[in-house]
Amino acid sequence: MITEEQGSQAVGEILGRYKKEKKNLIPLLQEIQAKLGYIPKAAMQQVAGFLGTPAVEVWGVATFYNQFRFVPLGKYHTMVCMGTACHLAGGRLILEALERELGIKVGETAEDGKFSLERVACIGCCMLAPVMVIKGRIYPRMTPFKVEEVLVPYKQEVSRKDGTSEAER
Ligand code: FES
Repeated sequence: MITEEQGSQAVGEILGRYKKEKKNLIPLLQEIQAKLGYIPKAAMQQVAGFLGTPAVEVWGVATFYNQFRFVPLGKYHTMVCMGTACHLAGGRLILEALERELGIKVGETAEDGKFSLERVACIGCCMLAPVMVIKGRIYPRMTPFKVEEVLVPYKQEVSRKDGTSEAER
């Protein structure tokens, strides 16, 4: 997990590559999110200071687009594909099963920071629809029942010295 100071430094480096022009707001936010996984409040203030625009304006723009996240991703970031093939094959049911199992809604991160949930557009393996992805690992041809099964090792998280779970072995 990145500290506030590291985050501020990373944002500073990103800002250093841009001109102080309002048209750079979205690309800046995109780059910050790509680097940190989300956009912290402090980063929005840094961006506002850099562009000479009120922080509330940056917040307004950032929250208008649902591509931006304002909470850190969970250790096991879970994505459900909702592209056409996956949607037609029952992606919505997979998403609902995950929301039930994880106790969080799309776009949220669990309080313990273990899981976060996101819906994404086609990830390029439509033949395996519907698919979900946990921490970069693709799970094909999902059903709500399989969701429960797949999550078991992540939930149990047999601790090892390196902090990985049974599911990651
Ligand atoms: S639509 Fe889900 S992988 Fe293409």
